[in-house]
Order: sequence, then C-alpha cells, then structure tokens
Amino acid sequence: MAFKSICLIGASGNIGVPTLKHLLASEQNFKVTVISRESSTAKFPDGVTVKRVPDDYAVDKLTEAFQGIDVVIGALSMMGMGEQYKIIDACLAAKVKRYFPTEFGLDELPDWLLQLREMFKIKHDVRDYLISKEGTGLEWTSICCNAFFEMGIASGFFQLFWKDKKAVLLDGGEPKWVACTLDTVALAIVKSIEKPEASKNRILLVEDFRTSQKEILVAVQKKVPGWEVENVESGPWLEKGKEAVRNGDNSQLGKLTFGTFAQGNHYEGRPEYGNDVLGVSKKSFSEAMDLFWKDYQSLQTS
Ligand SMILES: NC(=O)c1ccc[n+]([C@@H]2O[C@H](COP(=O)([O-])OP(=O)(O)OC[C@H]3O[C@@H](n4cnc5c(N)ncnc54)[C@H](OP(=O)(O)O)[C@@H]3O)[C@@H](O)[C@H]2O)c1
Repeated sequence: MAFKSICLIGASGNIGVPTLKHLLASEQNFKVTVISRESSTAKFPDGVTVKRVPDDYAVDKLTEAFQGIDVVIGALSMMGMGEQYKIIDACLAAKVKRYFPTEFGLDELPDWLLQLREMFKIKHDVRDYLISKEGTGLEWTSICCNAFFEMGIASGFFQLFWKDKKAVLLDGGEPKWVACTLDTVALAIVKSIEKPEASKNRILLVEDFRTSQKEILVAVQKKVPGWEVENVESGPWLEKGKEAVRNGDNSQLGKLTFGTFAQGNHYEGRPEYGNDVLGVSKKSFSEAMDLFWKDYQSLQTS
C-alpha cells in the first residue's frame, strides 16, 4: 500500500533540509507535516504543515500530532537522539506504519565504539527496539551512508583542518571509504518511502562513491594550495584517540568515528546495498566537490 502522509522531525537540520526538499518534489504528491520543538526558531517553506511539540517530545503530544500519518522520519540532532524511544512509542500509539530512525551514518557499530560514544549506543539500541516491535504494524527503514561528504571535508572530520591548513593522512591517505552527499542521502529516504516493499524492515546502504583522504586533499589543494601534511599509522592513531576519550577528552570523539572506516570500507556488492534497489543514482566525486565548494563559501565567513 502506498504511503501518503509523511511527517519529518528535524526538518531544519543538515539532513532534514534536503529531505524536505525531496519530499515536496516527489511525484507521489505526499502530504508533508513537519514536527519542530516549541523552543525552535526554525522556519519552513510555505505549504508545509508545521506542528510544534514540547521540547521533551512528550509521547501524548506526539501521538496527537501523528494522527493520520503513515510515515515518520526521525532526522534529529545528536542531542535529541535519545528521544526516539518516545517517538517510536507515539508511532505505535498513533498506528503509524513506518519509522525511519535517526541513522544516516555508520552501518557497522563496533563494540568499542558503542562503549565510548553514547550516541552510537543509542542508535544501536533504537535499531533493536524497532526490531522488537516488528509484527505490531510498525515497520522500519534505516538508511546508512557512512560519511556525509561535504560536511566531512568542511568540519575537519576527514582530518583536513582548514584553520591551520594541515592534513593528517592515515596510512598515506590511500584507503578508500564510502562517502555520500546530503542530497543523495535525502533522495534515498524519499525513494524508500516511494518503494515501501523494497525498503521494509531493513538497513539500506547508499553511497555516491568511494574516496580517500589523498584524493580529497589533491582536489582541495588545486583551489587552496599550501597544505602541511602529517603522516600517521591508523592503528596507533586510533588507539591514542580511544585513550584520550577514556580519559575524558571528548574533543577526540570525531576521530573515533572516522577511525571505524579510515582503513577502508565498501558498500557495493553487499546484500544491504541500496542504490540499485531504490533507483538512486550516484553523483561523481567532482560533482560532490562542487557541492562542497558552495559550502566552502560559508566556511570562509564563519
Ligand atoms: N554520516 C555523517 O557523516 C554524519 C554527519 C553528521 C550527522 N550525521 C547523522 O545525521 C543525523 C541527523 O543529524 P543532523 O546533523 O542532520 O542534525 P542537526 O542538523 O544537528 O539537527 C536536526 C534537528 O534536530 C532537532 N532537534 C531535536 N532535539 C534537538 C536538540 N536537543 N538540539 C538541537 N536540535 C534538536 C532540530 O529541529 P527543530 O529545531 O525543528 O526542532 C534540528 O534542526 C544524526 O543521526 C547524525 O548522527 C551523520
């Protein structure tokens, strides 16, 4: 049965904005509702129904807001990640048919990461919670995309630090890992709603391409020359990061996330590979770099 009425939570966020754009552009003419916190100053395009809920996402208020909704997409910030249990309980109470948990990152969550990064423990437990609810009428779809490409370059997540123009290359910067633009992640969410059977109760892995630190650095240096490079071995580098986090230095948390795939990974050929199933085409590395250079303008002014 086709889904008609879609509710997006976190529509003003990094992944929420392009998701809302693709929902509104879908040929399936979805009725789109946005849920935003009462304290939020976020603004949304005309024609979108906006419902404000208390900042603590109280289950009874969410249940009210979810009446008549087929699909709820959780695109919450890391800070709001733990509220998903209430969101799922409200989905069950309001007989919502499908929930998209706040994933949009790593598919594999190693035990050491679950122990050191609470956010990932929550993602992991929310997956289990949704699986435990299978058969109640609430289905789920998890979209994983490894690294957000544009944000990864801009934020230093890929270990390219703009302020000092310094790159820390792991294992020569050669290993290739999966990257995805925000636009492609958002499109995959909407295609999953358009194809409910193909996306039911499963993780789908979506990507644009595999890239490496070195490929990115070469592209960056063409426009912004003069980068200093430090070469490190990924094993000891990651162990140092884990130790720092164990000693309370949370500024190293990003390293741990990058470290889970810095030695290389791939999606294509795996059973959960989603681009083909969903009909999501890939952007090229150079198209994605163009999207990044647009972000770079704002990096300059921040
Ligand atoms: N793969 C990657 O490289 C990568 C990178 C970054 C993030 N992610 C993942 O993508 C998902 C979404 O992240 P995002 O960056 O799109 O989120 P975000 O922009 O930080 O926030 C999304 C929305 O969450 C809502 N929200 C709920 N509780 C909040 C709170 N306590 N503080 C602030 N905002 C709150 C806000 O909506 P309202 O103001 O409308 O209420 C906000 O606009 C997360 O799972 C995150 O882990 C992945």
